[in-house]
Amino acid sequence: MPTSAEVLRRTGGQRLKTVLFTETAIAHRVAELGREITAAYPDGELLVLGLLKGSFIFLSDLVRKIERPLQIDFLVASSYGSGTTSSGDVRLLYDPETRLEGKHIVLTEDIVDTGNTLRKLLGILKDRQPASLSVCALLDKAEMHAPMSEVRFVGFVAPKAFLVGYGLDHSEDFRHLPFIADLK
Ligand code: IMP
Ligand code: MG
Repeated sequence: MPTSAEVLRRTGGQRLKTVLFTETAIAHRVAELGREITAAYPDGELLVLGLLKGSFIFLSDLVRKIERPLQIDFLVASSYGSGTTSSGDVRLLYDPETRLEGKHIVLTEDIVDTGNTLRKLLGILKDRQPASLSVCALLDKAEMHAPMSEVRFVGFVAPKAFLVGYGLDHSEDFRHLPFIADLK
């Protein structure tokens, strides 16, 4: 567990409430996810697609724990809607350059909240005819959405709080924290 002096040094203020997932706990779980994904795809072409920006740290740790050939690409989605809640109108701002057809796709996401962003994106990606399409989410606010069959790999079930760190931001702050905490 980081000391409060450490947290203060990294954040420059005391806007965090509690550290919910430590650097050690995250590393342990990400290694397990890597083993799960390795076992789940004994053959075929695997493409790990990172949904930017939130998944950049998670993806870079995760792929180093997947012990089979794979490709990496990214996509950037933008959701238009009212204020802070995603309305479900999602557009791709950056489209993967790699071919998706016939590949096993694992879409990595930082956190699933209402699942609106994901549902739209999955629709768009399915049209490209991949061999299979699954989601690997570091965090899942499971009580915020109906179960989604595509969300096959989950790091941690998350509480309803607003979480930051390890890629997750609040107005671009806190992404660099090695742990995950909730905001005050
Ligand atoms: P959804 O469409 O409601 O599932 O929202 C998913 C997106 O909202 C995630 O990819 C995050 O970018 C953002 N988000 C949702 N909850 C949090 C949170 O607790 N902290 C930081 N970002 C979040
Ligand atoms: Mg995100």
